[in-house]
Amino acid sequence: MTILASRRFPGAAWAELQDVVYLEGSLAETPPRQDVTALAVVAERIDDAVLDRFPNAGIVANYGVGYDAIDVAACVRRGIFVTNTPGVLDAATADLAFALILASRRRIVVGDRAVREGRWAGGWADPDFLGRDVSGATLGIVGLGRIGNAVARRAAGFDMTVVHHGRGRDRPGWLELDELLAAADVVSVHVPLTEETRGLIDARRLALLRDGVCLVNTARGAVVDEPALVRELAAGRIEAGLDVFAHEPSVPQELLGLPNVVLTPHVGSATTETREAMTRVLVDNLLAFEGGNEPPNLVYPAAEAP
Ligand code: 8YV
Repeated sequence: MTILASRRFPGAAWAELQDVVYLEGSLAETPPRQDVTALAVVAERIDDAVLDRFPNAGIVANYGVGYDAIDVAACVRRGIFVTNTPGVLDAATADLAFALILASRRRIVVGDRAVREGRWAGGWADPDFLGRDVSGATLGIVGLGRIGNAVARRAAGFDMTVVHHGRGRDRPGWLELDELLAAADVVSVHVPLTEETRGLIDARRLALLRDGVCLVNTARGAVVDEPALVRELAAGRIEAGLDVFAHEPSVPQELLGLPNVVLTPHVGSATTETREAMTRVLVDNLLAFEGGNEPPNLVYPAAEAP
């Protein structure tokens, strides 16, 4: 197995792979290679044009749980496995969602900036530092999958009322999306980006949020209509904690000066432990493929596997 990797992935497991070549430049511009039988990628677009360059590739192993950058149908047509790294990043991503909820509701970044810039006048009455309760608030989770569930468990520790939409209709607290948006104090997005979820939270739905509600997105930027979100934030009507954006790494300029949005650079899984665990899962999938076995983390049903 010759692996073309878009980078050296962190952690000891990476050294278990024998024959790795590293991508120079972008995949779309890389010269065709007959020798490559596996691709190990993170966030790179994989489509027919890329796959044409690697006619002997049998697996695309994605470093990350979300695989929206990969044209899975094109891979299936060509008999190529597609794998991801689910499970090991649930806790880190849920922690970040909570960090954004807390930072946003409690004005952590606004306060930090004021202290650093010598604008803290003393006392406690500055309205800029006046947040809203997290404890006891109603949290609307959009997508109660692995990460959404991890967020719900954390919310229990904050005595929050959890309502949710998506999978788990049979679980208490399920609401239609519009009802959830109208009921929540905090909304946290945890659906994958698919054709069904692109633009799911559009301008009409954003308008359903009550004044002062906090929208947190650690999933994918394109699940929310970004220009509409920017308009709501610029109007100061709602607040947000955003780790993901529609066209990363570009972030809408209008957001940069706003006090009511906390911005992080797509770091949901960015802890040493989690990133190493993701490498372990990535490597296990590649080794299974090398051994002639079905990789453990196929992103499509085994029945559709090559
Ligand atoms: C990043 C993620 O892909 O797993 C995902 O879907 O969004 C993240 O884990 C990964 O951290 C590399 O940027």
